[in-house]
Amino acid sequence: MDKVVLAFSGGLDTSCCVKWIRDHYGLEVVCFSAFIGEVSDKGILRKRARAAGSEKIYIEDLKEEFARDFVLPALWAHARYEGKYPMATSLGRPLIAKHLVKIAQKEKAAYVAHGCTGKGNDQVRLEVGVTTLDPSLKIIAPLKDWEFKSREEEIEYALANKIPVAVTKKSPYSIDKNIWGVAIEAGVLEDPWTEAPADAYVLTRGSEKAKGSRTLTVDFEKGVPVKLNGKRMALVPLIEALNVLAGKFGVGRLDMIENRVVGIKSREVYEAPAAEVLIRAHEELEDLILDRELLHYKRALSDKYADLVYYGLWFTPLKESLDAFFAQHQGLITGTVRFRLEPGRAVVTGRKSPNSIYSEELATYSAKDAFDHKAANGFIKLWGLPYVGRGKGKS
Ligand code: ARG
Repeated sequence: MDKVVLAFSGGLDTSCCVKWIRDHYGLEVVCFSAFIGEVSDKGILRKRARAAGSEKIYIEDLKEEFARDFVLPALWAHARYEGKYPMATSLGRPLIAKHLVKIAQKEKAAYVAHGCTGKGNDQVRLEVGVTTLDPSLKIIAPLKDWEFKSREEEIEYALANKIPVAVTKKSPYSIDKNIWGVAIEAGVLEDPWTEAPADAYVLTRGSEKAKGSRTLTVDFEKGVPVKLNGKRMALVPLIEALNVLAGKFGVGRLDMIENRVVGIKSREVYEAPAAEVLIRAHEELEDLILDRELLHYKRALSDKYADLVYYGLWFTPLKESLDAFFAQHQGLITGTVRFRLEPGRAVVTGRKSPNSIYSEELATYSAKDAFDHKAANGFIKLWGLPYVGRGKGKS
């Protein structure tokens, strides 16, 4: 029997996918679950996969790989889609695509499958990721093909086929979570005018409930965040601890209208406290360390990078070339950034680095001033030369 490797979450959709693929394609279904943020119970996942009709399941903790190979390059690129969204979900999908391919090759499966819908970005990221890495694999996406028109019909199918349906009340939202952030969609959020209710958030506390303020420091070594409040930590625990710390102040909440790859505008609610703080901190250090031309050039590339990642083009030569560009100067990015956490925001209050090119002697307005004021005259004369007399009203 030919095999398919299915990206399996243990939820209703992917459980129904197992049975539906077996019936429609006559394939043996191997499941694959990745932990990149939410730690589910391995035993329960195994049981659910088996009950749905899958004989084999791979469960892999990929948080470290995710942090090192996906989050870190995006942090170096200051990747925020449309200038806002720090891209947790967009970064998670290529990792899943990579492992789907790896397992399919190991299992000698001709197919891979996923439970994404036809309206979202995730199908694009998974499918483009898979075909970029291994064009010989065929892709099955039951949610785009099957007959169920509603969740109720899916539940009926599950019950009729003895597929376990979780007893807990399903959240009215579609939530995707990993260590870099949480994406919340659907339900009442589909009306862009409706304020996100408190129960839509899963990671952060509302700023109205946060009290007081506290100081937070983040240390970087060669571009990598290594300490939180002076305490050395590996990247994954550091991100997780920062999510809790900054999340208590409601830092990193975001409510935006976003342009999807497939042309739809969607209203998205995000929580990404660690991403918000770390991207800001990294930007602050670079502002201190890198020269103006490099900093300004980076901004344009940063937008391009975010677009590529959002559009599912992770494993492409341009994305890899941009990674090399952003990595090139990270050896210099060592130092400390200090914040004050306040309800709803993280305010930068200081930054320092052994590689800083900030010069107090040049910047000062005091007697210590070392700047050559007269040199400014010659500079301005030549700088403005091409435009002399060419202002409004003259030609
Ligand atoms: N709009 C975000 C993105 O495309 C989040 C997608 C969330 N996915 C989900 N299955 N809830 O990256």
